[in-house]
Amino acid sequence: MSLLPLLSFGRRLSTRLAWVVSAAVVALFALTLGLLAHQSRLSAEASVQRDAAHALARAVAVMEALPWSERLQAAQRWEFAPLLVAPATPPPQARLLPLPPAWHKALADFLAPEDVAFWAINTKDGVRHGFTVILDDGSPLSAMLPAALRRPPGLPWRIITALALAGLGTWIIALWALRRVTAPLERLIQALETFATPQAPAAPLPEHGPYEVALTARTLNALRERLERLLTARTALLAGIAHDLRTPLARIRLRLESLPEDETRAGIERDLTDMQRLIELSLDYARSLTPRLEYQEVDLTEFTADLVDLYRDGGAEIEADLPASPLTARLDPTALGRILANLLDNALRYGTRARLQLRAVAAQSCEFVVEDDGPGIPPEAREAVLEPFVRLEPSRNPDTGGTGLGLSIAANLTRALHGSLSLEAAQPHGLRAVLRLPLRPPVACSGGTVSL
Ligand SMILES: Nc1ncnc2c1ncn2[C@@H]1O[C@H](COP(=O)(O)OP(=O)(O)OP(=O)(O)O)[C@@H](O)[C@H]1O
Ligand SMILES: [Mg+2]
Repeated sequence: MSLLPLLSFGRRLSTRLAWVVSAAVVALFALTLGLLAHQSRLSAEASVQRDAAHALARAVAVMEALPWSERLQAAQRWEFAPLLVAPATPPPQARLLPLPPAWHKALADFLAPEDVAFWAINTKDGVRHGFTVILDDGSPLSAMLPAALRRPPGLPWRIITALALAGLGTWIIALWALRRVTAPLERLIQALETFATPQAPAAPLPEHGPYEVALTARTLNALRERLERLLTARTALLAGIAHDLRTPLARIRLRLESLPEDETRAGIERDLTDMQRLIELSLDYARSLTPRLEYQEVDLTEFTADLVDLYRDGGAEIEADLPASPLTARLDPTALGRILANLLDNALRYGTRARLQLRAVAAQSCEFVVEDDGPGIPPEAREAVLEPFVRLEPSRNPDTGGTGLGLSIAANLTRALHGSLSLEAAQPHGLRAVLRLPLRPPVACSGGTVSL
């Protein structure tokens, strides 16, 4: 199975990092905007307070320059915006309050803030604040602020747009940088997928990109070389023993010819035949570990029909369910024939009759199903039987089973063909082996899977 679907969109490292970067850019944008808005509100408030402090200082200067009798008229006539000025004490309901620091700072430029009394009064429009100053001649002058100070202007659009553009630019650059960092990693993973196939390409993984990725590729290349050497040595050992045993076996068979034809000789001949079969299968298994595949265009419908005929000619009872039209695939017919033969042999050996079905699945793959009416394989043993030399009936009695290599050879060849082999239960009883193969060999795809 390809690893790529596993790296589904939301789980990809690059997607997750992109989300983090996007969230960070949005948070930074919102924070900067909030700070700027707060700062601009503070400076707008300071400017209103400065205007009010200036107006209060002007009112004090004007009132002190006028005689008492003219002050009331002047207070109404003169413009002291935003203050409402009266030559009077604060209203009786007013509460004296400590002068807030912001007002202290604004008043300090024009008056001595210690000489200014700050008060508040509840009106129907809300709380209003005011100031009272004792003039030179000892008479009071009160000034009241409006219920709500002038609303500070919002942030100018130009600033918001500039900030948004800066945020967008940062976001794009961050994503681009992220892509540059994660792309080599994704390329390495893709290369690794082909790396895992039994038919691993001769080309080693590319050892470039960021230091960590290059180092991983180098280490994996070294690991692959070691694995290949080990596998080759194991295969050579198995193949060597199997091959070299053929000659002495042939010699024994020759010498047997000179012995009288009796029970003992027949027994030895049977044993020799079993040994020869074991040797052939062992060689097959060794070859299936690193098969040399020869891909060619094959009409699967015709190929399967021929195979079924071959079995029927041998007396086997096989029901075939094939598509009406040709189904072409590019694969190695020898490997496919070997897999199907092993599955059919099992179906006929452990059951009485077999059913072989072929159908196209989606546009790119096909499925072979081999079913039998035998006892089937219990779910817990379906993984084990794919290992070499594993038989459910462990006596190794040739009458009740084979060498235990057929399914492991089929599984190895299936992987080499980038397919999948699964063992299931047939209804009402029996085994159902499902072989799924791609119609075209994938360019960069992992080896197939064997599932149960
Ligand atoms: N269709 C089946 N029905 C029931 N049991 C099965 C079937 N196919 C395989 N098995 C069980 O799985 C074991 C492994 O099968 P496998 O084909 O690998 O070896 P084998 O048939 O014993 O020998 P050979 O190497 O000659 O094929 C078998 O010994 C048998 O116990
Ligand atoms: Mg078998």
